[in-house]
Amino acid sequence: MASEKQQKAIDLSHHLSDLSRARLVSPLKGLAKYMGNPNLIALAGGMPHPSYFPFADISASALVPDSFSLESTPRESTLSWVWKLFGAGPKEKTTTITVPKFPTHADDINLAVALQYGTAQGIVQLQKFLKEFVAKVYQPAYADFATLVQTGNTDGWSRTVQTLCNPGEIFLTEEWTYPSALYSSLPYNIKPVAVAMDSEGMRADALRKVLSEWDEEARGAKRPHVMYTVPVGQNPSGATMGASRKKAIYDLCVEYDVIIVEDDPYYFLQQGQYKARSERSVETIKHDGDIFLHNLAPSYLKFDYQGRVIRLDTFSKYVAPGSRLGWFTCSPLLAERLERQGETTTQAPSGLSQFEKSLITKLLTTWKYDGYVRWLHGLAIEYKTRRDYFIDCLADEFHLAKSATLEQGLWKGCEVFEGSLKPKNSMIMYEKTAVKTKMFSFVPPTSGMFIWMKIHFENYPSFKAGDEATLEMQLWEKLAEAGVLVAPGWYFSAYVGEAPDAGEGHFRISFSNAEFTTMKKAVTIFGDVLRDFFKE
Ligand SMILES: Cc1ncc(COP(=O)(O)O)c(C=O)c1O
Repeated sequence: MASEKQQKAIDLSHHLSDLSRARLVSPLKGLAKYMGNPNLIALAGGMPHPSYFPFADISASALVPDSFSLESTPRESTLSWVWKLFGAGPKEKTTTITVPKFPTHADDINLAVALQYGTAQGIVQLQKFLKEFVAKVYQPAYADFATLVQTGNTDGWSRTVQTLCNPGEIFLTEEWTYPSALYSSLPYNIKPVAVAMDSEGMRADALRKVLSEWDEEARGAKRPHVMYTVPVGQNPSGATMGASRKKAIYDLCVEYDVIIVEDDPYYFLQQGQYKARSERSVETIKHDGDIFLHNLAPSYLKFDYQGRVIRLDTFSKYVAPGSRLGWFTCSPLLAERLERQGETTTQAPSGLSQFEKSLITKLLTTWKYDGYVRWLHGLAIEYKTRRDYFIDCLADEFHLAKSATLEQGLWKGCEVFEGSLKPKNSMIMYEKTAVKTKMFSFVPPTSGMFIWMKIHFENYPSFKAGDEATLEMQLWEKLAEAGVLVAPGWYFSAYVGEAPDAGEGHFRISFSNAEFTTMKKAVTIFGDVLRDFFKE
């Protein structure tokens, strides 16, 4: 947590892009600094009078923070439409939250402010909550960190790229990464360079190699000064980075003067190791917010004594993706430039989400810090239960062998689960021969929402080197036509346009959304399609 002894952020203004340097304060937004003064007669802005806002108040029934028990047992969602249709299922416990148009007390969240033009910093009560949350949970190692709302991490990264990178530059990222991060920078001719990964995500030795051996002439670009990384429940690989790796990477970024952009939407979905069903007992954990937070891998902010991390947080995975609300944590200098970037585009989390912003602010200030942490703890257990269930379904459908593999790269040193066909009752000749064919493999993720599955096309009957990409799409299409949509691996490759590794294809399979019975059905379909495919 920020303390007197901590230093302030160092001046990293040399990282700003030409575009960001050229950005002036929007003249209209320059008025905003006077707006908080209640004695001011405001005749400058084109602001409608709040009595013309057609909403007297907005209310919502919000779930209580301990809605999800900490017992990890698969159960259908209480919101399942089938349950709702028949009025069945347990009753949800809710509280009503209301945001009035006008405040009763000076610091009440109110629509007159939330629905009015405002600054790109967001409403004051939300800023206050976020600042305290970051200080307590992530504990930045420098004193003057700032928070600034954005409209979700996709927006956060795209604003960051424009604030830090000039066209023609290259940024560092994991070999496999979030496609929107790639596709928001590529049109500006800002390209990724892939850094090799292992089971903790980006490798520090590989990063050193890229940075120390950078050849400007051969690469046609100066050495990267920005890194985009997803360190927890990495999308798509599921990898989670621990403290010592983060410290090593942070130190390297100090040495080579790199800004770290930590895109961390899955931070609170850290689930621990997968245990096979037979080794698991139903455990009820008593909630202790400090212990829950203490057991999470730390954020890069914890090591950031210079203010060179831009952390992106989002409410998408903990409240709702439609909220389009998140926030940056970074140095005041970078926050100021990001704010300038925001005020001429979205201004603030926009339009209707202003409602949501005031509602989310109301929700957070009603739940308070402890309530929100309890909510996050409940969600972590929910996703753990889903992950376990999905892998249990794979174990029912396939023969899953655990192997301490000779794998290099992403799964080096990990226990890998290898899937082959289980004999079915009506065994035909093909199945007898194919029983031992390794069709896919994966490492159970310890965080996030995804299983990153390697498909072993080298075992496809008529496989020829170079067929991988085509086979990946053929199998993907067959699955989609059979009713199961997964994400094909090539979407996530930071080696844009390069051939995949020999014999391999990948699918990213999400366990976050389907009902439990539907997950089971999906795995059965997956089995049928694979059985058919590998026989071709
Ligand atoms: C790594 C990563 N970043 C960002 C996002 C999107 O976040 P948001 O909804 O806040 O834009 C996702 C969503 O899947 C993601 O996986």
